[in-house]
Amino acid sequence: MAEQNATRDILRDEYNAAPYHSYPFGQTHPTHLHTLAKLFKLNPSAVENARILELGCAGGGNIIPVALQFPRAEVLGIDLAEKQIEDGVKQIEHLKLNNITLRQQSILDFEAREGKFDYIICHGVYSWVSEAVKDKILQICHEHLTPNGIAYVSYNTLPGWNMVNSVRELMLWHTQSIQDPMLKAQQARSVLKFLVDGLQEDNSSYAQVLRNEINLLSKQGDFYLLHEHLSSFNHPVYFHQFMERANRHHLSYLSDAHLLTMYTDNLPQQFSKELSKIKNIIAVGQYMDFIRNQRFRCTLLCHDTQVVNRAINTQDVEGFYIQLLGKPDNPNFSEKDIKEGSEVSFTNGSLTIKVRSTIAQTALLILMQEQFKPIHYTELCKKLMVKTGVKQLDVIKHHLNNDLNLMRALFAGIININSYPGNYTLEVAKKPTVCPLARFQAQNQNHVTNRRHQTIMLDPLTKVVLPLLDGTLDTKALIEHVNTQIKEGKLSMLDEQKQPIKDEQEIVKRTKSICTTTLENMAKQAIMVECET
Ligand SMILES: C[S@@+](CC[C@H](N)C(=O)[O-])C[C@H]1O[C@@H](n2cnc3c(N)ncnc32)[C@H](O)[C@@H]1O
Repeated sequence: MAEQNATRDILRDEYNAAPYHSYPFGQTHPTHLHTLAKLFKLNPSAVENARILELGCAGGGNIIPVALQFPRAEVLGIDLAEKQIEDGVKQIEHLKLNNITLRQQSILDFEAREGKFDYIICHGVYSWVSEAVKDKILQICHEHLTPNGIAYVSYNTLPGWNMVNSVRELMLWHTQSIQDPMLKAQQARSVLKFLVDGLQEDNSSYAQVLRNEINLLSKQGDFYLLHEHLSSFNHPVYFHQFMERANRHHLSYLSDAHLLTMYTDNLPQQFSKELSKIKNIIAVGQYMDFIRNQRFRCTLLCHDTQVVNRAINTQDVEGFYIQLLGKPDNPNFSEKDIKEGSEVSFTNGSLTIKVRSTIAQTALLILMQEQFKPIHYTELCKKLMVKTGVKQLDVIKHHLNNDLNLMRALFAGIININSYPGNYTLEVAKKPTVCPLARFQAQNQNHVTNRRHQTIMLDPLTKVVLPLLDGTLDTKALIEHVNTQIKEGKLSMLDEQKQPIKDEQEIVKRTKSICTTTLENMAKQAIMVECET
């Protein structure tokens, strides 16, 4: 007990001293968990009325947007570090949300009386806590999950962390006597850079690992470095070890939150052929981790009494909203490129699908035109009928399901599916309204959470304009406001050579088109809403 308390105090102090920046993670969103559960033929609870729990929620960056999106859902987030919880509570008060509670509490103190939850999320916590907390996380997932509930737990994995661990130990060793977190982060970065600079000419795999890591860390803030690499606790495990422990808590594997990582056909043929002979999904996943040198996993769990059906048919895509993620090989792909006998390719960067039939090509064009908001399969069929003139639904479906094979495209990461529509608008209204959470965030930071549960970085103009868009200001007033800001020197307008424009008339001339583009971009980025919610 004394040891548990000491561990808890160390972690709480570490997070209070350098709070974790709290972001949304699309793969944890309950609608995504609902979608995957449905795909594997479970019967998940509707998210709009669900009880949702997040363990280790930091400042609520991941869970507050969910509560805002589903006002009838009941949301609870707990975290050890009071400073992070205080930040989240301020946001909740500002947004006047009454369906969410954020509470400073250790996972270890979670009580039986909290009742059952339809969705339990625990992202980026499991690997950084003591063995007792790990067991408690899985115990909560078992004891507090409704019979059809879904739990999400992410964790660092081996073998990927074997190599990264050398980097962690280097940085820990170098900074062992430094207490101040910011200085610690700075010194950790500089010792890594020192090694990488010295090994510039070195082509060994070790030098490559160091280069990769410095590159990865250069994109992350100090808070990430401190809590990911320099945390007192960091215990990566093999996937099979995690699942053995989950099984002991009567939890079964449902799927990975990233579907494309599960699909053996995405690997080179010699691997997929051999792996397809193995019937045990955990063993397959473990071999795939060895093949890919996996360092992180996002695992969905359900009660071991649930029957997961992995026999997915191509027509199972029919109940979902679809969004294109891939891009055409031909960046100018348009109607005129759709021809009998030609081949159209779409890729996600590493995997490609090719289609020959003009109906399948037209379907990809429609998905491309609708890429900023998911379109329901039924709607896609309707649009495809109009565009191709084909009247028989079964012919249209045959092309979508078998020729284009949307299910294959899903597993290749070319499309995404969701059982819920996007709750944002692509229209720029006369008096545009931006989601209230984004308005609040834009006043305090340089990034906001959009309605696709993603982080959007703000350019200087968007940062100025966004907080004003509460549905009371029309675009004319907005343009005037921007002109005034430029006149007062609070914003500057740059020409094509990135030089400030001084001429007032030129500024006024350009402001209108810049503001229009900015508003349209906000809509495409899923920040605009129909009206205040
Ligand atoms: C790496 S951060 C991840 C935060 C958040 N889930 C995310 O991914 O952005 C780990 C979080 O777990 C919290 N934590 C660690 N041990 C805990 C415990 N025993 N009970 C509750 N929260 C804990 C920390 O305070 C911290 O906010």
